[in-house]
Amino acid sequence: MVRSVLTVSDLSVSEIGAVLDLALESKRRSGPRGSELDGKTALLIFQKPSLRTRVSFELAVSNLGGRPLYLSPPEVGIGERESPEDVGGVAGRYCDLIVCRTFDQSILERLAASSKVPVINALSDWEHPCQALADVLTIREHGGTAGRCLAYVGDGNNVSRSLTIAAAGEGMHVRLASPAGYELDEASIAEATMRARESGGSVSAISDPVAAVFGADVVYTDTWTSMGQEVEAKQRLEAFAGYQVDLSLVGKAAPDAHVMHCLPAHRGEEISDEVLDGPQSIVLDQAENRLHAQQALMAWLFG
Ligand code: CP
Repeated sequence: MVRSVLTVSDLSVSEIGAVLDLALESKRRSGPRGSELDGKTALLIFQKPSLRTRVSFELAVSNLGGRPLYLSPPEVGIGERESPEDVGGVAGRYCDLIVCRTFDQSILERLAASSKVPVINALSDWEHPCQALADVLTIREHGGTAGRCLAYVGDGNNVSRSLTIAAAGEGMHVRLASPAGYELDEASIAEATMRARESGGSVSAISDPVAAVFGADVVYTDTWTSMGQEVEAKQRLEAFAGYQVDLSLVGKAAPDAHVMHCLPAHRGEEISDEVLDGPQSIVLDQAENRLHAQQALMAWLFG
């Protein structure tokens, strides 16, 4: 059966554990690269700009012996020039894997349904599962996951959705602080809570950022205005006032707390320069781990 990863929930708690174990093992081993994608081609269809996701996927495919083929936002035109079904059907005849960054989650679902090869979500408006794998991998390396507290401060968006579900499955106590109207949806919280029960973690939605961050081991934020939401920027800046991760807020967390951000950051909005560039920030480890997590995910899918 073709196995696609369109949401983080497409991987069970134990499967995420296996992928992360593989990532840690291959990161530690600085020997020969894998061969799971030997002779295979991965089509990277990006309908939005990217630094981290594009570079890390291209390198990860090459490291596993495969060939990445990148198609930039003006190309293909899924849903405009051509239907997702036609793109999925055709791409599956040339390539062995589709990695797609798009707007609407339904495009990924239609691609996957029409293609005979796996599809990996490289970010949609609904989820960013590969980011979450890298985030949890990074937390594992910086003090561990199970039993520790992760405070997410900001928009209940695609990044927070994937992160909450993945971190809860790792046994973390996840606290979410978002202003009214920008909270993570109840179904995603329920999914994360179900996984937390399996692993000894918990999920709680707390609107007050200070209460959410108090004593936390990890403080995470993301941009308040994601790609495609630019017309809402002014309204969002007003709604999120008081939710900036700055030195004062980080001072409420555990003294050895780490600060995370998936990047790119809007410096001076959701996070201050002092925090992003400060000693508690592990954002570059996070960015590096995109490579290791995605390489492990593909090795696992094709291994
Ligand atoms: N975090 C992330 O997905 O970065 P890019 O948009 O640069 O890929």
